[in-house]
Amino acid sequence: MCPVSIERNAPLHALNTFGIAARAARLVRISSEADVRAALAVPDIRYAPKFVLGGGSNLVLTGQVLPTVFKVEIAGMRVLGTEGDATLVEAGAGVRWHDFVHWTLQQCLPGLENMALIPGTVGAAPVQNIGAYGMEAAERLHSLDAIDLRSGKLFTLTAAGCAFGYRDSIFKRSGGMGLAGRALITRVRFALPRRWRPRLGYLDLEKRMEATGCRSPSAQQIFDWVVDIRRNKLPDPAQLGNAGSFFKNPSVSAEQCRDIIAREPQLVHYPMPGGSYKLAAGWLIDACGWRGKRIGRAGVYERQALVLVNLGGASGGEVMTLAKAIQTSVYERFGIRLEPEPVVL
Ligand code: EPU
Repeated sequence: MCPVSIERNAPLHALNTFGIAARAARLVRISSEADVRAALAVPDIRYAPKFVLGGGSNLVLTGQVLPTVFKVEIAGMRVLGTEGDATLVEAGAGVRWHDFVHWTLQQCLPGLENMALIPGTVGAAPVQNIGAYGMEAAERLHSLDAIDLRSGKLFTLTAAGCAFGYRDSIFKRSGGMGLAGRALITRVRFALPRRWRPRLGYLDLEKRMEATGCRSPSAQQIFDWVVDIRRNKLPDPAQLGNAGSFFKNPSVSAEQCRDIIAREPQLVHYPMPGGSYKLAAGWLIDACGWRGKRIGRAGVYERQALVLVNLGGASGGEVMTLAKAIQTSVYERFGIRLEPEPVVL
């Protein structure tokens, strides 16, 4: 077995999209399943807490990271063949999600284009069930391989086994059947429909169809639109540190939704199956006057109030102070508790 290389006091500044300057007590780079086993063979690592790091795009670091960081760099993309109405493709967990989406289109395998340009890695996609522009990773996920960080054993989960929810999965839950901190995803397989149909209906895409007069866009056209919409609306982490949407869009009952609308007729709300409503957290924050505001070196992005940004040198503590002030305002005005989307470490 290859000896594992442990980086001590490793800087994480370039490994989290918020650009927060924190350090990991120990960091191990994982390029293969064998690397995980080699790391677990080190007693100091095997029996101590671990943290699996993908693209670091959904993370707020509030201090030195004490768990051993497993930085996943497993590469590779391949077409596996057909299964029923779908073509199966597989990617290593360390592949950049956007590169993977781009590659599937190059293989003439559409089906992921609505999720273009989402930051992060393929391995992180199932963890928080990434989604955008009317599609979630869960809808296309076929199965994945992961290593149990206690036993070192490889196991496979189907989409059903991942117990997906809105920005949620078994990998985010702890206790009971939850796998938070217990599994390292190595490879993910997606089932792409052989009879592809465009997924439209999201307001921003409808607007593009109107503006261009293009009523039946190709997958490449949707990909290009999504890339353009995201570039206009969301800050590029290379320029302005951020972790995408900072809060989840909250769900409320029909009654609660009616009550709020009676006071706030402009409320942006979407009916959900089962009778509840999802509210646009960005709108709630914007309505409280936070867009473009700052506390210390952390700010609220001026074009999308759901995105908190690092204005330069912000600590994780400053980001969380801003997040808490926003939560308080939204609670006082709307009676809604916003839940952060990123992992706070
Ligand atoms: N809005 C405002 N002011 C704002 C921001 C938004 O009024 O400052 C309103 C918009 O006008 C719109 C509504 O809120 O009516 C929703 O905004 P948008 O369409 O931008 O989507 P979102 O709900 O804010 C979600 C996802 C994004 C995803 C987009 C597009 C969550 C938490 N966020 O944002 O995902 O890209 O939809 O599908 O579900 C992410 O998770 O990191 C992420 C970026």
